[in-house]
Amino acid sequence: MSKKTLVFKVNPDSPEDDLISQAASIIRRGGLVAFPTETVYGLGADALNPTAVSALFEAKMRPRDNPPIVHVGSIEDVYKLAENVPDKAFRLMEFLWPGPLTIILKRSRLVPDVTAAGLDTIAVRMPRHSVALALIRKSGSPIAAPSANLAGRPSPTTAQHVLEDLEGRIDAILDAGPTHIGVESTVLDMTVDPPQILRPGGVPYEVLKSFLWEVTLHPVATSDMELHLNHTRSPGIKHKHYAPKAEMFLVEGSLKAVVRKINELAEDYRRIGRKVGVLATDETSSSYKADVVKSLGSRSNLAEIAKNLFRLLRDFDSEGVDVILAESIPTDGLGLAVMNRLRKASGYKILRVNE
Ligand code: TXA
Ligand code: MG
Repeated sequence: MSKKTLVFKVNPDSPEDDLISQAASIIRRGGLVAFPTETVYGLGADALNPTAVSALFEAKMRPRDNPPIVHVGSIEDVYKLAENVPDKAFRLMEFLWPGPLTIILKRSRLVPDVTAAGLDTIAVRMPRHSVALALIRKSGSPIAAPSANLAGRPSPTTAQHVLEDLEGRIDAILDAGPTHIGVESTVLDMTVDPPQILRPGGVPYEVLKSFLWEVTLHPVATSDMELHLNHTRSPGIKHKHYAPKAEMFLVEGSLKAVVRKINELAEDYRRIGRKVGVLATDETSSSYKADVVKSLGSRSNLAEIAKNLFRLLRDFDSEGVDVILAESIPTDGLGLAVMNRLRKASGYKILRVNE
């Protein structure tokens, strides 16, 4: 069952040809290779090889009804994988690719059923990372790549995170250091009009709004409640996601009230012997009394917060924290993606407080 996972240390800006060739040959013969993108690390398999994609689901222990994103090396490739591509979609690809935007389109017959998880649509994106693009182009095939974590764990932003979850389960990893953005791509459904954001991510809502006439947010993208959906257009929505091992609560409201509430909860939990972690920001971290306090970064730098999020959730786990108390952050720009991940990570255990 366990195999040797090869680790290739690769230059993030100008990846070494021989390393990319070795990784691409693993993909071509149906193997699994983890690689960096600008968002998080992905676990890649040849998207057109059903056996390889099947192995991908297996390695991640991912439910079979949740399709991976198919990564392409050119816009032309989209026209092989998809049908009825709207003009709007083409313009978005031209403006925003390579970049953290995934587009849902009607799929073509070229796409194996297992890759589409039985849906009649496909998710495509061109990542903005030299290593990812070199690997896709060298492989000569589109690459199916979900985030390279075990299902239900926080997405990996370093090669170390990938190895924690998948060492012995995958053939190789291209290690190019930490990823730049830290939250996954925005998933935009373009099979509906107006287009709808199914998952907020690296391309903010405001940016899509400025490019498209109209764009809507699916209720789960913003919602602070768990929605019970059977037939959702984004299968990922209904699966448990981004969960740290500790129990997590998210506290929303005015900053002052949030700090006060978190301190109260921390005291209560510590009194009953729990090890408490607080997920804070630079502005507030010195105000907490807890076992472990970690700062996401400055509230005025949402890019920094996004970049640190998944790493800190994993760090709490490795420090054996029992309870995580997390602050909410503003929902503009990348903040919407961060809050969406925090809400999910908390299992929607959200406390609302006010002055
Ligand atoms: O930034 C990213 O998007 C990373 C990197 C590796 O590219 N990938 C990633 O993949 O986050 P994954 O598989 O962890 O998340 C893909 C999301 C899931 O929520 C899935 O349900 C949704 O995209 N998805 C995939 N195919 C879909 C489809 N045909 N219709 C609706 N949603 C789809
Ligand atoms: Mg994922």
